[in-house]
Amino acid sequence: MFESMHALSTGLNSAGYFINPVMTQVVFLATRLQKPLLLEGPAGSGKTQLALSVAKAGRTHIERLQCYQGVTEAQAIGSFDAGLQRLYLEFSKNQHSDWQSLQANLTGREFFRPGPLMRALECERPCVLLIDELDKVDDGFEAMLLEILSAWQLSIPEFGTVRAKSIPFVVLTSNEERRLGDPIRRRSLYVRVEHPTPELEADIIASRTPEAKASFHREIAGIARSFRNYSLEKPPSVSEMIDFARALQVLGTNHVTEDLRDVLLPFLAKTEKDRRHLMLREGFKSLLNDGAKYAKELASPEGALP
Ligand SMILES: Nc1ncnc2c1ncn2[C@@H]1O[C@H](COP(=O)(O)OP(=O)(O)OP(=O)(O)O)[C@@H](O)[C@H]1O
Ligand SMILES: [Mg+2]
Repeated sequence: MFESMHALSTGLNSAGYFINPVMTQVVFLATRLQKPLLLEGPAGSGKTQLALSVAKAGRTHIERLQCYQGVTEAQAIGSFDAGLQRLYLEFSKNQHSDWQSLQANLTGREFFRPGPLMRALECERPCVLLIDELDKVDDGFEAMLLEILSAWQLSIPEFGTVRAKSIPFVVLTSNEERRLGDPIRRRSLYVRVEHPTPELEADIIASRTPEAKASFHREIAGIARSFRNYSLEKPPSVSEMIDFARALQVLGTNHVTEDLRDVLLPFLAKTEKDRRHLMLREGFKSLLNDGAKYAKELASPEGALP
């Protein structure tokens, strides 16, 4: 999918995805060795976006299986189109075809509506197969996936084995609601995705609010850090910080002040407990002060925060 590490790195860059050099190397190795990449980490830390960005960078398309409790194999692999089969039966009424050939036709590939797994295997050139939020499915579904990811083939009783025309680059994501099984971990390259460093976050914010000053981007990255250090039930993610920065732009301000607390809380506090915590008299103010301190460290020549 990528000729070199450089191609991947510049591709991700132009797709607007910010990533550290080590992670770029891991993604590159996963594409080269045809290993699934298992991304585990908090909500909003860029797991899904990485898969979308790799597809964009590799100029290929993405097949996405969105997992949820109760997702079926038929939704993942595909199923026969009953409506089309009925239509065909109507059409064949006057054709005097025998039962066997009718049955064979009805269970042919053209009556099968493929799901994302089958579409990915049928791609002529490698695509990205995103299996998103795998922690939401049960063990049985995970075992079925394991078979496909090991053998790169699918068995459909009616018309046999479908072998991959190309091997997709597979990205599995998890928010750790359920612990994924060891076999899937063993077969994948495991990457722990955390919230970005303040430097990286300032770059992400800058890319989404390019008209604002660098000091504003640092301020938001500093606030992100101070809020994540506070014991919140749901610490704000990158996507919430992007919304927060955009809201400030809409409000026409380049600086977060205490009097904006009530307007800005819906962006940062996502549970009643967190909201009450941040409504405490000094809570919000002290977090802004800490944020300003982090932003200052970010601006200093030594730069990096631990
Ligand atoms: N490294 C990054 N570079 C650029 N944008 C990022 C990055 N990380 C996160 N984002 C932004 O944050 C948003 C949320 O990221 P994403 O949806 O990938 O999170 P996630 O880890 O999949 O979260 P969830 O577990 O809730 O699905 C993205 O739409 C993107 O705008
Ligand atoms: Mg996601």
